[in-house]
Amino acid sequence: MKLTNEEKQALIDLANEARRRAYVPYSKYPVGAALRTKTGRMYTGANIENAAYPQTMCAERVAIFKAVSEGETEFEVIAVVTNNGGSPCGGCRQVMAEFGLDTVVLIADGNGTLQKELTVAVLLPEAFTPDHLL
Ligand code: THU
Repeated sequence: MKLTNEEKQALIDLANEARRRAYVPYSKYPVGAALRTKTGRMYTGANIENAAYPQTMCAERVAIFKAVSEGETEFEVIAVVTNNGGSPCGGCRQVMAEFGLDTVVLIADGNGTLQKELTVAVLLPEAFTPDHLL
């Protein structure tokens, strides 16, 4: 799968828009995510914090769980936007790995500028995957 610059930018812009809906009264670090499934559907997510801090959910997982709960489990690409181009956390990498190591991850900053493009396999080497349970 070869993504055009326009396709990448469209996903980054969608993630940046979702970021505006982040609920982050504690960290004040809004994160937005947008993923495109292999069937071409788009799902967005934003981080949602909680007064009981560990109940917080990351933007990436919100987007992925929305997709999976709609019956979509094959992802082409996920864009993640933060103010400073922050990288997905370990938990989100593991959840991404569940659905494919080849998914492309676009990391962008708050201006919508692509900072890094890599795959889940690169983000989470030696991943524990569903294959290990077969
Ligand atoms: N966060 C995400 O949404 N995704 C990540 O991959 C890293 C961290 C959120 C969780 C919390 O609301 C805030 O960023 C600061 O950790």
